[in-house]
Amino acid sequence: MAYFDNAATSFIKPPGVLACVQEAMLTMTSIGRGGYRQADLAAKAVYECRELAGLLFGAEPEQVVFTMNATHALNLAIRSLVKPGGRVVISGFEHNAVVRPLHALKAKITVAGKKLYDRENLLSAFDRAIRPGVDAVVCTQVSNVFGWRLPVEEIGALCRERGVPFVVDCAQSAGCVPVTLRTCGADFLAMPGHKGLYGPQGTGILICGRRPDPLIFGGTGSLAMLPDMPQELPDRVEAGTHNVPGICGLSAGLRFILEKTPEAIGAHEAELARYFSSGLRTEGKYRIFFDSDQTGVVSVQHRDLDCEMLAACLAARDIAVRAGLHCAPLAHRSAGTLDTGTVRISFSFFHTREDVAELVHTLRTI
Ligand code: ALA
Repeated sequence: MAYFDNAATSFIKPPGVLACVQEAMLTMTSIGRGGYRQADLAAKAVYECRELAGLLFGAEPEQVVFTMNATHALNLAIRSLVKPGGRVVISGFEHNAVVRPLHALKAKITVAGKKLYDRENLLSAFDRAIRPGVDAVVCTQVSNVFGWRLPVEEIGALCRERGVPFVVDCAQSAGCVPVTLRTCGADFLAMPGHKGLYGPQGTGILICGRRPDPLIFGGTGSLAMLPDMPQELPDRVEAGTHNVPGICGLSAGLRFILEKTPEAIGAHEAELARYFSSGLRTEGKYRIFFDSDQTGVVSVQHRDLDCEMLAACLAARDIAVRAGLHCAPLAHRSAGTLDTGTVRISFSFFHTREDVAELVHTLRTI
């Protein structure tokens, strides 16, 4: 199978991820639940993952909170900052993982920047919308549909200047775009473990520049006499048993990223996207969404086939892509593709130019 759906989940993982998951399942139990060897091994392994993530995202290990996925991390951040009915500013390219939690809170949402690839328009819209009294600004660093890199550093600077908390959705940037709490001026960075960080599904991270409020309540293996959740991070927001095998696999993914660097991984993926776009551009039956400031995620449309049909044609040739609205109707509305959707092709570090050339060749024949 030729897999081009890495924006959903990376499928080919670096060497070591599977081995680390397996080792954890064979040798470790739960953290904070016992003083025996297997529990101790688990505690050390989980702490090591916090250290690795802290190194990559500019945080102390205690500021690294484990979640199930990026959606969980975003819910934690949003619920900590936004009051019911509160005011929030978001970009026109947010995922439902941002839009739905805000809708559930009946937040008053200002959508800033609704023009695809228009950086100036986006920044001036945020400049107008970020005012004292706004509960939070939430912005994705990379559009999951179009791979567009949004200027979160500048948006973060506006937030800092006006004293408004800032949440960055790093679902499509973690691992392939450098990002830290400091460079983004962010209060929270939310990310999955299973996409660009190459960990297993069921892993996610919230990097905390401030203390979040618990979303779920329960045992932490610490301060058991307290009826409330402990104040300290990460225990405050990590109730229940950890996904130790997943976290160990994530450590292997993080070690891989730290060794290769997000800059190099991102440059390789962006180069593949450029190669793909220029290769397919000469084939008149495709519309390609591509801009210079883009990661390895590219949306396309076929002149005669709807997006589900094109994805089905590719699946019949054992090629995996994602079609439709990609859980981001707002992004499609902003790009003018809400009625049609797109077919999304998303590259990974493990793809080569030959893989891309084959994909272009196949698309030409459809
Ligand atoms: N949010 C993921 C995607 O874009 C699942 O496909």
